[in-house]
Amino acid sequence: MDELFKYEQEIAEEDKPPSRSPRPAKLWRVAVIANVKGESALPLNGPEDAGAEFDRPETIRSIQDAIESDGHTTIFLPADSNLPFALRDVQPDICFNIAEGLGGDAREAQVPALLEMLRIPYTASRVLANALGLDKTMTKRIWREAGLPTARFQEFNTAEEALDPQLTFPLFVKPAREGTGMGMGEHSIVHDETQLRRQVRWVIENYHQPALVEEFLSGREFTVGVLGRKDALRWARRPSLYEANGFCRLPVLEVDAGRSITPGVYGRTAKTLHPGDSGVPDFLCPAPIPGALARQLQDLAIQAHLAVGALDVSRVDMRLNGQGQPCLIEINTLPGLTPGFSDLCVIANAGGISYRDLILEILYLGASRFGLALPHPLAIRRQRGVRLPHLVNMSPQMQLR
Ligand SMILES: Nc1ncnc2c1ncn2[C@@H]1O[C@H](COP(=O)(O)OP(=O)(O)O)[C@@H](O)[C@H]1O
Ligand SMILES: [Mg+2]
Repeated sequence: MDELFKYEQEIAEEDKPPSRSPRPAKLWRVAVIANVKGESALPLNGPEDAGAEFDRPETIRSIQDAIESDGHTTIFLPADSNLPFALRDVQPDICFNIAEGLGGDAREAQVPALLEMLRIPYTASRVLANALGLDKTMTKRIWREAGLPTARFQEFNTAEEALDPQLTFPLFVKPAREGTGMGMGEHSIVHDETQLRRQVRWVIENYHQPALVEEFLSGREFTVGVLGRKDALRWARRPSLYEANGFCRLPVLEVDAGRSITPGVYGRTAKTLHPGDSGVPDFLCPAPIPGALARQLQDLAIQAHLAVGALDVSRVDMRLNGQGQPCLIEINTLPGLTPGFSDLCVIANAGGISYRDLILEILYLGASRFGLALPHPLAIRRQRGVRLPHLVNMSPQMQLR
């Protein structure tokens, strides 16, 4: 009776977040879906660094451990062509998705698309945001349209296209749809048209995709973690981590590649090194910058995340231009989650969020979109026939699952 009285009080204070964390209606069977280094098949004719984004078994185990520590059961499912059948057999309540996908122009959206088709709940961004996030040109078009700062750019489908006269050297050339520094190093910075065309041709021939050419941003580099959602205070496992706008204010990470193996560029070789290796960039978290700049970068990251429709978690890379203005480089809608190594894990840790909490926040935020984690007061309200909580971005069929 006492419990019920407490819930009723909470219901009366409708606009406040519930004082209790949401609890799962039951413990979940969670499938962790990933591509594993050395196991997932690579595309034929791929570049020599193909598969660089795939995860290591230890990372998958760490995610499973974090989820199991909250009482749920987990199973790892490889994101390969057998996945549809494995999903049918396992019938997970929800999938924790970190799969990079296998080839194609939107590979990071492949698993979300499959899960939408099968009507299975999953974590983090949905299909469109994952497809956009992989395509850096499309992302920049959206940011530009939204009035967000990003370096001037041009996409090349052949090395012969006329160069936009608005672009000024030095320029930076990269594959339009890769990650983990693939195809990027000091050679990406070009100072004249001959170098530009040579580098554009190399990208198109090796990566079988357009080359994105941007003005080179010469200032300091930062990466900013985004965790939360407008309604996170109601749905998060630990609401106290979030500000009133529904997002965590995570410390900014500065990547100082000045003295790294690829000076000034956080590219492929620098990204394979481990902390302590020689040639690794300096990672400074919190970044030694004035509070006002940190807040500007954090707000910009949230705007960038919302502009592409990302959900619950992402990491946004940015750099200052020659005038000291922050400019957006790219968004990672499936940021790496290797404990103690991936930027987001380092950022969360510096912000006082343990690896376990980071994983469980992503899980609970995702689960809440599908009605899997109901705060008790809302559950009672539902019994009484009062309207259901607002479930973001989900089809009615999925909400009823
Ligand atoms: N326009 C640019 N100006 C300066 N440096 C850049 C630019 N674009 C990318 N870089 C450098 O290359 C790195 C990797 O680029 P990014 O687009 O973030 O690719 P990835 O998806 O591989 O992380 C950045 O962290 C930054 O150091
Ligand atoms: Mg990056």
